[in-house]
Amino acid sequence: MHLLCAFLVWLSLSDGLSPNCPGRCSCDSMQSVQCYRLMEVPSGIPSTTKRLYISHSRIQHLQLSYFTGLFALEDFILLASGTESVENDTFKTLSILKTLELLKNKLRQVPSGLPASLEVLKLNDNSIRALHESDFEGLKRLKVLELKNNLISSLSPSMLSSLISLQSLMVDGNNIESVAGPLALPHLKHMSMENNKLRLIPGNFFTFLQSLQFLSFSGNFLTKMPMNLPKSLLSLKMERNQLKVVRFRDMKHLETLSHLYLSENFLTSIEGAQQLANLTTLEVSQNQLQMLPVKLPARLQKLDCSSNLIQRVTAQDFQDLRDLKHLFLDNNAVSLFEAGALQKCSQLSNLALEQNLLLSIPLRLPKTLARLDLKGNAIQDIAERELKDLKQLQVLNLRNNKISALDLKVLEGLPRLRHLYLDGNPWNCTCSLLRAREVLKAKGTDVKGGQCAAPAEQQGESWMSSKKIMRQCEHHLHQNEKGKETKKKLKPEDSSSIRPSVDDDDYDYEID
Ligand SMILES: *[C@@H]1O[C@H](CO)[C@@H](O)[C@H](O)[C@H]1NC(C)=O
Ligand SMILES: *[C@@H]1O[C@H](CO)[C@@H](O)[C@H](O)[C@H]1NC(C)=O
Ligand SMILES: *[C@@H]1O[C@H](CO)[C@@H](O)[C@H](O)[C@H]1NC(C)=O
Repeated sequence: MHLLCAFLVWLSLSDGLSPNCPGRCSCDSMQSVQCYRLMEVPSGIPSTTKRLYISHSRIQHLQLSYFTGLFALEDFILLASGTESVENDTFKTLSILKTLELLKNKLRQVPSGLPASLEVLKLNDNSIRALHESDFEGLKRLKVLELKNNLISSLSPSMLSSLISLQSLMVDGNNIESVAGPLALPHLKHMSMENNKLRLIPGNFFTFLQSLQFLSFSGNFLTKMPMNLPKSLLSLKMERNQLKVVRFRDMKHLETLSHLYLSENFLTSIEGAQQLANLTTLEVSQNQLQMLPVKLPARLQKLDCSSNLIQRVTAQDFQDLRDLKHLFLDNNAVSLFEAGALQKCSQLSNLALEQNLLLSIPLRLPKTLARLDLKGNAIQDIAERELKDLKQLQVLNLRNNKISALDLKVLEGLPRLRHLYLDGNPWNCTCSLLRAREVLKAKGTDVKGGQCAAPAEQQGESWMSSKKIMRQCEHHLHQNEKGKETKKKLKPEDSSSIRPSVDDDDYDYEID
């Protein structure tokens, strides 16, 4: 043991002291060097180094001399090191440099004289105020450009005109108020401009973005959908803008669009989305919809209409949505849910209806449901016919309703139920409720039960674990058993399933 320790100490010392690896650095056999807490880029980095990673240091200024002789360098990463400036042409001689990441520093501009070999340039979390035409000159191989969380206020085609190989452009979290078009980036697939100050996207912006697949303008001040979106789009994010209407007829050329995100806008209605024939996900939560979207695309798999003002759910709304798997209608004002409204959705597995105004569990829900959330409605009782077909149901949330009694038959009809939330209801803690409790435990269902509201002597007791109720009901059940014994003998397993087990108090189903 002592020998091993000594060996390890020797190893770590020799690492630092090795003529081939500078102090506060570790060098590995893959020609990779990692350093921390430096005041400058150290001399003595092996000339064969391919990857140099420095973080949490204090290197205010990067200079050309730091990199003399590092001709094998392919990746240079400088993270959180307070770097404010870079000497002109510092990286120019690193002729096979592919990746340059200067993240979380204090750079005020893009370093000059970047080598033509560069494929990935990330300058996120700096203080860059503007981009210039010369910044990216000659970077014909650059595939990834990230400038998130800087202070850039505008973007124009001439700044990016050299970047003929660019596939990904991320400028989220800047102060961009205007963009000019057309951007000529023929291979661009991903573009993200989230959290800027855009009010308008010019009509010619996308003319030469014929490969664009993923586009996000979330978190801007856009009042209209951009016009002439590229036909190649797969995903479009427009969340957190100021959209009042979406005209789907202007988008019908988007035949491959599969994901559309419109949450947190000012939409009062959605009509005609069926023009987007290949749409599988539509998110419109936190708008002002008073009705469910009309004429939805038949391929839809996920529809999120949560946090709107929807009052009614009818069969007509869902008659064509045979592929729907996830439906979110929580936090609306749904008081009318037509029986069988979702019967055509024969794949539906997840239905969120929490925080609405329902007085009962909707009838004839799809048999495929695995998760049903009805928390925070005004449901007063649970009837067998409402739930009996839900053989796949695993999670049922009835928290914070007005239910006082539970029918044993309801529970027996749910063979796969794993989680049942019943707390926040005014339970009438009769001995028949205790029997329901025994059935749930026997099935291995995880139950949050909550507290009794009645009868008076049980108020505040937790009906899943209260010893007091158990004692009283044991007496009660015992009397019943005596009565039955005259007719027929109780089977031993029946009596054991009814008799509460003392160990059950180990469970704590109390909710905060
Ligand atoms: C660095 O380059 C810029 C323009 O490329 C030039 O204006 C500036 O004078 C140069 N700085 C030094 C110290 O040479
Ligand atoms: C629609 O999406 C499917 C895959 O989900 C794809 O195979 C098909 O080509 C798409 N249709 C169009 C018109 O792009
Ligand atoms: C609780 O249940 C008992 C027995 O069914 C009934 O007599 C009583 O009225 C109920 N109490 C409340 C508050 O519903």
